Amino acid sequence: MSMRDVKLCLLGDSGVGKSSIVMRFVADQFKPALESTIGASFMTKTLLVDENTYKFQIWDTAGQEKYRALAPMYYRGAAAAIIVYDVTREGTFRAVKSWVQELKRQGSPNIVLAIAGNKSDLDDLREVRTKDAQDYANDINAIFCETSALTATNVPKLFNSIAKMLPPEDFSKALYGSTVRINSAVKSKKTSKRCCGGTQET
Ligand code: GTP
Ligand code: MG
Repeated sequence: MSMRDVKLCLLGDSGVGKSSIVMRFVADQFKPALESTIGASFMTKTLLVDENTYKFQIWDTAGQEKYRALAPMYYRGAAAAIIVYDVTREGTFRAVKSWVQELKRQGSPNIVLAIAGNKSDLDDLREVRTKDAQDYANDINAIFCETSALTATNVPKLFNSIAKMLPPEDFSKALYGSTVRINSAVKSKKTSKRCCGGTQET
């Protein structure tokens, strides 16, 4: 039983549903007419996964272009990032790729990346194929999930998968702490990069 603080940020174009995903995860609510985020908003949520407690410190960034330059303040030092696109808007998926490049250059070296294709409830309007996004996520070693903040599909699973992919705590302390404990056992556990069905990679 352990308790961990996990700094996490959400990135992605305006209107893809970042705030809606956070509201679904934190309060299990959905508001159809949510205001576009100004600057960023902060929330916390505690999650129990495999007997471990994770306190997510969630930075929900603003997707509008005028706030683009603020993003590094929120992804810097983050243990995990969720990059969100809207399955009904191809352009928002292209934006994911530029976020990934920026995070690989400037994010934490062992940051856990998750890609979320949101609005999966709008399948009739789909522009991004599941397989294309899944293949891309596999290539960059990211968690992939199609979510719906509206129906709640895969939203809890997304955060669960992230918790399971975090490096063991002893390991991260060794990387960032002042003391390197050579004898501390680093537990390895089976993890999956997928959170919405399909075969499990271990
Ligand atoms: P910014 O704050 O501007 O960056 O946008 P955002 O990514 O936070 O998007 P937000 O959560 O505000 O959602 C934008 C719009 O999409 C809102 O009208 C939401 O109600 C709607 N929306 C969000 N998630 C879903 C979803 O899963 N399904 C459907 N159908 N609509 C959604
Ligand atoms: Mg928002």
